[in-house]
Amino acid sequence: MLQKIVKNLSSDNPWRENIQFFDSITSTNDVLKQMASQGAPQGTVLVADSQTGGRGRLGRTFLSPAGVGIYLSVLLRPNCTPRELMHLTCACASAACTAIEQSTGFRPGVKWTNDIVYQKKKLAGILTELSLKQDGNTAYAIVGIGINCSQQPEDFPPAIQEIAGSLKMASGREIDRALVAAKMIDAFYDMNRILLTDKSRIIDRYRGDCITLGQEVSLVRGDEIRHGRALDVDEEGALIVKFENGTIETVNSGEVSVRGLYHYL
Ligand code: BTN
Repeated sequence: MLQKIVKNLSSDNPWRENIQFFDSITSTNDVLKQMASQGAPQGTVLVADSQTGGRGRLGRTFLSPAGVGIYLSVLLRPNCTPRELMHLTCACASAACTAIEQSTGFRPGVKWTNDIVYQKKKLAGILTELSLKQDGNTAYAIVGIGINCSQQPEDFPPAIQEIAGSLKMASGREIDRALVAAKMIDAFYDMNRILLTDKSRIIDRYRGDCITLGQEVSLVRGDEIRHGRALDVDEEGALIVKFENGTIETVNSGEVSVRGLYHYL
């Protein structure tokens, strides 16, 4: 697998030197975090065929069975404050859409903030994690993505069959997982090169990918659920929502679902 991934990488991608492949790992994010704290360089990439402790956002488990998915994490070392990285998850989501488009022929969308979706099914999830230096600057960022590649509907647990999809289900074609991984690594490399210089371009691209815009959303915070319409995404990737009572707010955290279409809650 590693050889096939490297063979499919763009010839000018220097990250090829630091890619490791695992048949099984606890979590590519967790192992990469350990490596980062021991000084691993930017562009270190871990790819796994399966994870025993895959983690999703909000403390959820991310199912990571062997043979059907790609579980991948990259290490970034941006020289900036965390505040300047507010758009990172959006940048990663659009990069993931580009990688999927280049490896399968269709471009999925993004459910804010960074669920990769197509025809009402989630195909991939992204978990970005930051570590800070003592002076408050960014020590490193880890971007982890889990992509459902070759599953058929019955491969997913019944509880998520309604909302989970795969690249194979979406494209109707066999999926070359090594190609998907290589395009993902290339897309994250390209994204990282413009991350701090081309914020507006990144957010514009994201606006085009984000299927949440224009939709009715339920904003859930703890026990509180509020309804409104998603108007736009600001320069930091926050969602601008007009609530039923007419007030407009910028939403940074909490989980937003597109009411009536998605059931991610
Ligand atoms: C989500 O949908 O909530 C995010 C899922 C992120 C899963 C990926 S798989 C590779 C990396 N390692 C992990 O443990 N999680 C991320």
